[in-house]
Amino acid sequence: MQNFNYLLTLAIFAFVGAADEANKIINCYFGSWAVVQESSQFKLESLNANFCTHLSCVNFDVASNGSLDALNNPNDANIVASKRAMTLKRKSSYLKSIIAVVGGPKTNFINIAVDEIKREIFIFSVLTLLIEYGFDGVDLFWPNVGRYDGDAYLLNTLLSNLGNAVKAFNFSLSISLKGELKDMQQWSKITDLWKEVDYVNVMAFNYTDTFYHAPFHKDKENSVQETMKYLLQNKSAPASKLLLGVAFFSNGYIVKKKERSSGKNVVKLYQSAPYRQISYNGLCSLLEETEFWYQKHLEATYIKYGGIFESFESPMTLAVKTDYVYELGLGGIAVWLLEHDDFVGGCGQSYPLMRLIHERMSCELDYDG
Ligand SMILES: *[C@@H]1O[C@H](CO)[C@@H](O)[C@H](O)[C@H]1NC(C)=O
Ligand SMILES: *[C@@H]1O[C@H](CO)[C@@H](O)[C@H](O)[C@H]1NC(C)=O
Ligand SMILES: *[C@@H]1O[C@H](CO)[C@@H](O)[C@H](O)[C@H]1NC(C)=O
Ligand SMILES: *[C@@H]1O[C@H](CO)[C@@H](O)[C@H](O)[C@H]1NC(C)=O
Repeated sequence: MQNFNYLLTLAIFAFVGAADEANKIINCYFGSWAVVQESSQFKLESLNANFCTHLSCVNFDVASNGSLDALNNPNDANIVASKRAMTLKRKSSYLKSIIAVVGGPKTNFINIAVDEIKREIFIFSVLTLLIEYGFDGVDLFWPNVGRYDGDAYLLNTLLSNLGNAVKAFNFSLSISLKGELKDMQQWSKITDLWKEVDYVNVMAFNYTDTFYHAPFHKDKENSVQETMKYLLQNKSAPASKLLLGVAFFSNGYIVKKKERSSGKNVVKLYQSAPYRQISYNGLCSLLEETEFWYQKHLEATYIKYGGIFESFESPMTLAVKTDYVYELGLGGIAVWLLEHDDFVGGCGQSYPLMRLIHERMSCELDYDG
């Protein structure tokens, strides 16, 4: 059985990235629900302000007329959470931006894009919110492009109208998109994407054709490498605008009974969708008492525990991915989500995953916090 903390230490100090490239983006998404809940132990204010360059609050929602809910309600959870993020801005020279992330479960950007009045209300309300609270930019959390041929065209219009508006005020505009090949083939139809956005958060995880969740090398069709190769080679995306998305949660699948006690590589599972998802802070104590495996040919980590196969982002896989950011000259990394890290330090030092990312991607090391 391998010692997890030992490997964690190795991953932190085996830094091979280019030390002269300190100005990578580390975009940290956090959920307003985690911040505003009274019972939550997650305190945004206690985050080391140097761990992230951007703090992006999910999910600002949009009313059916195109206006932001938060604009009509000062007690909106996203506003409360984003204001707390603003207090961190004063502690860091890096933390340039607080990004208001628009788009939640009820937002359908197509409905806004199709209607000129709604587009105007939407853009006006985004600008008003950014100005009123002093935020630095807007991130469209945009999981699906839409099913119809005309959808990409409509979204392109919305994006370019919004792009023109925010640029006039020097706000940033970014989007987050799914990294699965079938999704990227859809959203690459948005022709002005690369021109309009400052960066794209590529959610290169939660792949549905593999049990490994976010493997670096492919198991079947999708992997981090396949996603990035597709964007850079097939779609000529500018590398500096791409942030590699990493997820701090696991995907767990039920293992077939007769395979439960068998060797590490025999993994035949039942479902097509994960049985459960656990955040890294819920998983880390399991790692101390469970055998875990590093699947070298995929660069993926998993455990088999209580009849569940659980694949997750570990310090080892994060080290591979942060190196890849430098190798490809990407703009940086996007973390989904900050509160899924071991923020209280229940399994050792606090924020082990954020610490690893920060230390591998920054030469101005700051070890407090
Ligand atoms: C949009 O709808 C919300 C309620 O859903 C309302 O508060 C707001 O005033 C409306 N905005 C405009 C510009 O019509
Ligand atoms: C935007 O930034 C440019 C260059 O830094 C500056 O010249 C311009 O005045 C800024 N515009 C606004 C509206 O702040
Ligand atoms: C990317 O381009 C290569 C070479 O042209 C092609 O073989 C491959 O099928 C393309 N990938 C996708 C996912 O379309
Ligand atoms: C991951 O995919 C599952 C379905 O397979 C979905 O329920 C979940 O919301 C996804 N999570 C993220 C963060 O995309």
